[in-house]
Amino acid sequence: MFYPWLILAVPILTITGGETKHRFLRWDCFECRICAPFAENLKCQIAGSRQSVLNVEVNLLKSLPSIRTYVKISTRSKPSEQFRKLFDFTFNGCRVISDVARGKTMVSRLYNAVVRTSNQPRKCPIKQGFIYYRNISMEEVYPSFFPESSIEVQVELFHLKKSYFNITLRGDISSN
Ligand SMILES: *[C@@H]1O[C@H](CO)[C@@H](O)[C@H](O)[C@H]1NC(C)=O
Ligand SMILES: *[C@@H]1O[C@H](CO)[C@@H](O)[C@H](O)[C@H]1NC(C)=O
Repeated sequence: MFYPWLILAVPILTITGGETKHRFLRWDCFECRICAPFAENLKCQIAGSRQSVLNVEVNLLKSLPSIRTYVKISTRSKPSEQFRKLFDFTFNGCRVISDVARGKTMVSRLYNAVVRTSNQPRKCPIKQGFIYYRNISMEEVYPSFFPESSIEVQVELFHLKKSYFNITLRGDISSN
């Protein structure tokens, strides 16, 4: 189910062959929206002296019915261009939570970066209560094959084909 990453990763890693430039991410937009009646006091903030880390907190009023997740990654090389889809994929978040301890895939590394300093329960269902994620840094798991460009990450959580939680993140990738 995570094959889109792999299919993309293999050829591009081969093309960029061993280049070990360190990549930096600087976020400049972080928007989140969650539908009633699931939560209140949702806060999504960019932090850190380089605007490289993300903090999220939310008070869940109900346990989440499903964490079927759609992720779309888009890039553009100039501010005057539209973002264009690089790839997208859908996965069952509960599968990731339960499989992740064994996983060394990019998705499990990404998930580990997100939950590292979080109090999010490591099993489904995600129950009601206050949940925080602090200092989420994508730089460590950031695929080195991503182009130096602006990036847009859109995440939607679904229940019964309707999205109830949306995240949009925009930032710049640079190598100095
Ligand atoms: C997050 O990062 C800041 C700045 O580096 C640090 O002061 C803080 O202790 C960190 N918080 C957590 C929960 O890791
Ligand atoms: C999430 O974004 C999609 C696509 O832009 C939109 O159709 C949907 O209504 C949004 N859902 C929420 C909860 O904001």
